Amino acid sequence: PRYFALLPAAGVGARMAANGPKQYLTVGGKPMLRHAVDAFRAAPLVNHTYVVVSPDDGVIDAVLPSELDGVTVLRVGGATRMDSVLNGLRALAGQLADHDHVMVHDAARPGLTPALIARLIEGVGNDPAGGLLALPVVDTMKRGAPGADGASVSAATVPRNGLWSAQTPQMFSYALLLRALGSVADANAITDDASAVEMLGYAPRLIEGHPRNLKVTLPADIRIAEMYLAQKED
Ligand code: CTP
Ligand code: MG
Repeated sequence: PRYFALLPAAGVGARMAANGPKQYLTVGGKPMLRHAVDAFRAAPLVNHTYVVVSPDDGVIDAVLPSELDGVTVLRVGGATRMDSVLNGLRALAGQLADHDHVMVHDAARPGLTPALIARLIEGVGNDPAGGLLALPVVDTMKRGAPGADGASVSAATVPRNGLWSAQTPQMFSYALLLRALGSVADANAITDDASAVEMLGYAPRLIEGHPRNLKVTLPADIRIAEMYLAQKED
């Protein structure tokens, strides 16, 4: 089997509110995107890594020099994360075969390691539904509702048992992922790839990830990511 990585990196980082897209912020000594790219380049089973950036991206060539082996930049980013992933998959038609495995990974998760990539590949095995890294939820979950004075109130406690927080990478066969994302009616309605696959009736495997693989979303997440990056491995 062949394994490929596809990194959506065409977001603007609105919630980070930095001076430019967050995937290029320096985290632990290098641009955030480089951490994830280097994890895939160091993973022995990964054949090639594709990075999807926005067509007008002016930074990527400095972050990923063209002589870097094992990486190709696709300038086909779209309006939503889903569009960026789907455009990237479509750009690879002819290069990837239906049964090739594609690992989709957020460029904004710099804590990924080759060990976690290996754990995902091992955990999914040849399950046709694919799978994803995820963490069992540890907090007590509340269903919020608007209260009488407009403030949020807790309408119910959602049983935490069985709940997982999704991480990436999420791995599926090229054909399944293309079909799943191609059938989603509203790109804004999904926030990960597994949800599109679930809509086709598949149940992807949940493989235990690691807190170090957090998604950097808000400014405070940078320091948490740097703390994990300073620790060598899991
Ligand atoms: N992404 C993308 N194309 C988009 C939107 C997001 O490739 N149109 C990528 C981001 O670059 C990031 C990943 O999807 O690597 C996860 O998205 P998110 O954390 O939401 O990043 P942003 O969309 O950039 O941040 P925000 O939602 O705060 O604007
Ligand atoms: Mg976003």
